[in-house]
Amino acid sequence: MPTEFISLAFPNASTELSPIPGSGVDPDFLERYARNLDDYDFNYTLQPYDSGGFDPFTTGATIAAHTKNLKIIIALRPNTLYPTVAAKALATLDQLSKGRAVVHFIAGGSDAEQAREGDFLNKVERYERLEEYIRILRKAWSSTEAFDWEGKHYQFKQFQNRVRPVNGTIPVSVGGSSDEAYRVGGSLADIFGLWGEPLKETKEQIDRIYAEAEKAGRPANDRPRIWVTFRPITAETEELAWEKAHRTLDALNSHRAAGVGKVPTNAPPPQNVGSQRLLDIAKKGEVQDRALWYPTVTATNARGASTALVGSYQTVADSILDYVKLGCDLISIRGYDNLNDAIDYGRYVLPKVRSALEKEGVNGEVKKEGEVATIVDG
Ligand SMILES: Cc1cc2nc3c(=O)[nH]c(=O)nc-3n(C[C@H](O)[C@H](O)[C@H](O)COP(=O)(O)O)c2cc1C
Repeated sequence: MPTEFISLAFPNASTELSPIPGSGVDPDFLERYARNLDDYDFNYTLQPYDSGGFDPFTTGATIAAHTKNLKIIIALRPNTLYPTVAAKALATLDQLSKGRAVVHFIAGGSDAEQAREGDFLNKVERYERLEEYIRILRKAWSSTEAFDWEGKHYQFKQFQNRVRPVNGTIPVSVGGSSDEAYRVGGSLADIFGLWGEPLKETKEQIDRIYAEAEKAGRPANDRPRIWVTFRPITAETEELAWEKAHRTLDALNSHRAAGVGKVPTNAPPPQNVGSQRLLDIAKKGEVQDRALWYPTVTATNARGASTALVGSYQTVADSILDYVKLGCDLISIRGYDNLNDAIDYGRYVLPKVRSALEKEGVNGEVKKEGEVATIVDG
């Protein structure tokens, strides 16, 4: 499978650098954003979920209407939608977009956040429910007959789905870094989403996911594809990129102190393992590996994807190639100056990564770890 790129498409001009509190959906901005991602050959856009945020299905359908190739990843928390409804909503989006729907499952990493929408299960139960949910969706997409379901979390009778995914099914992604996430994602997901950790820790996580896949009886050619997420801060030269990185960090810190940041100053430690891991790794040093930068993690209490990659376009491209060689197939990059950064990546980073992949490997694939590959300036 070729290496593919993901980015978010935001529905308004508010960013972590210049927050516009209370800003609503700006349909023209969303359209421009999505078209840029499509034109610059990003492969996917994630529409994220949080309890107080915009509805990803609606923004996702709008994006589908304005783009040709971009696949739309809908972030979905099982507690927010009955599984039969989700199966049809995703299949409807898949038909509207001619086969471009993907679903990214969030079991729920914070009890307080889950409680905001009436979910009082504990984390282990949430992952159990997620497992059942994925099985229901797959059955609803594939079954031509009406079927009953007698599970622990869901029971229904004679559900018959008439809304079929274009390609028979819809790719299922799972994100997280807990044992439960590895188990459910490793055994059931097509894609497994990770946040940006150093190469060594990323490799350890991949091994855990693959071990769970194997335990579930999945052959090596049917393991989840690995998605890894960064927030690159890049410019023409190293010096300009580092100046930009420090300006970004200053903005994150001052907005948080002024109460307009992503998290309040007195936010409790995060409950989800993925964020805990990022904060632990941040204690080991500001820069890790080639260009992985952690102060943005600490400044935001590791809420959401927060690890930066800092450097020139070439350094960022080379860092991405390090992860491709490690076994990451899907590279998610979004900046802090959302739309402008996405355009910069599209102009200066994606072509470098893609041309290096073409030069180095067979069929556009870079050689995996253990094989010899030299990264060439592209
Ligand atoms: C790539 C990726 C994307 C994510 N997107 C979201 C999102 O849109 N909304 C959300 O609440 N959590 C999102 N998460 C967070 C986790 O899915 C969530 O915290 C998980 O339920 C529990 O994490 P844990 O298994 O690491 O403890 C995302 C995680 C990853 C790795």
